[in-house]
Amino acid sequence: MTTVDGAPEERVPAAVVPILAAAGAHVPVVLGEVERALRSAASPGDSVLDGAAFDTVAAGGKRLRPLLAIVVGGPQVAEPGSAARAAVVRAGVAVELTHTATLLHDDVLDAGLLRRGRPTAFAKSGRAAATCLGDVLFAGAFATLASGGQAAALQVLARASRELAQGELLQRADAWDADVGEDRYLHRCHLKTGALFEAAARLGALAAGEDDDAFARFASAIGVAFQLFDDVLDVVAPPEQTGKPRGTDLLDGTVTLPMLIARERDASLAALDLRSITTPEHAAEVCDRIAATGATAETEARAEALVADGVEALPAGLDEARATALRLVARGVVDRRL
Ligand code: IPE
Ligand code: IPE
Ligand code: MG
Ligand code: MG
Repeated sequence: MTTVDGAPEERVPAAVVPILAAAGAHVPVVLGEVERALRSAASPGDSVLDGAAFDTVAAGGKRLRPLLAIVVGGPQVAEPGSAARAAVVRAGVAVELTHTATLLHDDVLDAGLLRRGRPTAFAKSGRAAATCLGDVLFAGAFATLASGGQAAALQVLARASRELAQGELLQRADAWDADVGEDRYLHRCHLKTGALFEAAARLGALAAGEDDDAFARFASAIGVAFQLFDDVLDVVAPPEQTGKPRGTDLLDGTVTLPMLIARERDASLAALDLRSITTPEHAAEVCDRIAATGATAETEARAEALVADGVEALPAGLDEARATALRLVARGVVDRRL
């Protein structure tokens, strides 16, 4: 089993192994430092929610956003004990805490019962506790970044947090609306997912003292592609792969690109009242009809194109290690092995 230093019980996803190999020997070490700091940031020891906060963070996740920050940080963050190294560890902790907080809130908003194959905090403890737990993690993210004393880093995280909330609000506002335009859907994907990928890359670049705009464009594009794939998986992937049943988006009224494309190709889907989908069996049957139109394959092709745009946006003259590792991150998103 491949493990990250400092968290020996964590399995590193297979797709991450070549990324670690390409990015430099320091990357798994820094990831281990993030893992340890993450766990202590999630359990400051002074609140009734600490146990639950720690469990939520320790329950795992691919740690994709910290990985992105560290890889973007490049050779500058390789030196143990350097200011750049400390900054990138804070960045990794902050983006992962923010990500986990948004998942907790997302499960409240989507009434999600299963995540990573386990009952969600919402399922176990209810709306109020899951919401407060998310707030605790958000606070931890900002406290972690604030300890670095860099206002620009705080602004980056604040912007992403605002956008994440806007994305969730937009999703609720558009719930059950099958006529929502593709542009609005893509904007929602940027807000919900692209924004935090972008923040991770910006924070990695800031830690390294580099210009962050090109990395931000790369990360935003692959983040949106990641959400497109997540939306495809909701239609096609078995629960063993995603940790939740197929058609979860349909059941909570979330209209995604596979459905928008499928409705253009299948009149019976265009005529379907989305509110009539109320059982997992019906949702699974509608998922089969969506996939049969080729709409999921088309969505995957759109995600591929976004990833290609992202790779194109990477800064010219980037060192080979970073360029290779970031291209592998982009591939992992498309192959959805990350
Ligand atoms: C899940 O993100 C939520 C989306 C943005 C689609 P991840 O797939 O990165 O979640 P974990 O942290 O690995 O569980
Ligand atoms: C991503 O959207 C969630 C966040 C950005 C918080 P989804 O609602 O599609 O995520 P899953 O499918 O529940 O993981
Ligand atoms: Mg959700
Ligand atoms: Mg989803």
